[in-house]
Amino acid sequence: MNTQDAYNKWASQYDTNINKTRDLEAAALRSILSSIPFESCLEIGCGTGKNTSWLIEKASQITSVDLSEEMLAKAREKIKSGKVQFVQADITTTWKFRNQLYDLVSFSLVLEHIENLEHIFSEAAAALKPGGYMYIGELHPFKQYTGSKARFETTEGIEVVDCFTHHISDFVQTAKKNKLSLVDVNEYFDDDNRNEIPRILTIVLRKD
Ligand SMILES: C[S@@+](CC[C@H](N)C(=O)[O-])C[C@H]1O[C@@H](n2cnc3c(N)ncnc32)[C@H](O)[C@@H]1O
Repeated sequence: MNTQDAYNKWASQYDTNINKTRDLEAAALRSILSSIPFESCLEIGCGTGKNTSWLIEKASQITSVDLSEEMLAKAREKIKSGKVQFVQADITTTWKFRNQLYDLVSFSLVLEHIENLEHIFSEAAAALKPGGYMYIGELHPFKQYTGSKARFETTEGIEVVDCFTHHISDFVQTAKKNKLSLVDVNEYFDDDNRNEIPRILTIVLRKD
């Protein structure tokens, strides 16, 4: 199912479904970004605001962008802070929502829905201050190799969202092309069991 329709449909249950990927990425983001300083943040694919509520505790200004009006409506319902500007936009087009340079650009569980990483990394690099950070938290490609995809239940059956697999080297090489240096890579496992396939991959990059 196309991404926008899927998330508009998923929005009413996104926060309440059992979803290990959503929850483990939330823990990963908090753990990784707690030691990274930022005042301003561009949050890409904010969804229902799972991470926005944590990011506004650290940042003084956030632009939170999403394709799905219904996901954004949930985020707006929950988060009433003057520090956040929610914007509906498709990040595969030109980033007109970028109205300043940011200390941090964050991506949580969004790049699996994007085919062309090059456009996104180039726009993100242009949105960062020199020395600014880019955080990526994704469903681990190893999980994707086993067939795992974003999906949810409806009364008509299981809906699977359009997904693309990006290998770890795709992230690293696209970062290099856009003058983003690799700072950190981490993997998160269900129940911390490192004998299983990791569920979440995080990558931190820094603009040269
Ligand atoms: C799995 S949800 C993640 C939401 C939130 N970041 C989280 O971790 O819970 C993926 C989000 O990416 C958004 N998204 C997907 N493709 C997008 C695009 N082309 N432009 C903007 N947002 C997009 C979807 O609408 C959806 O809200």
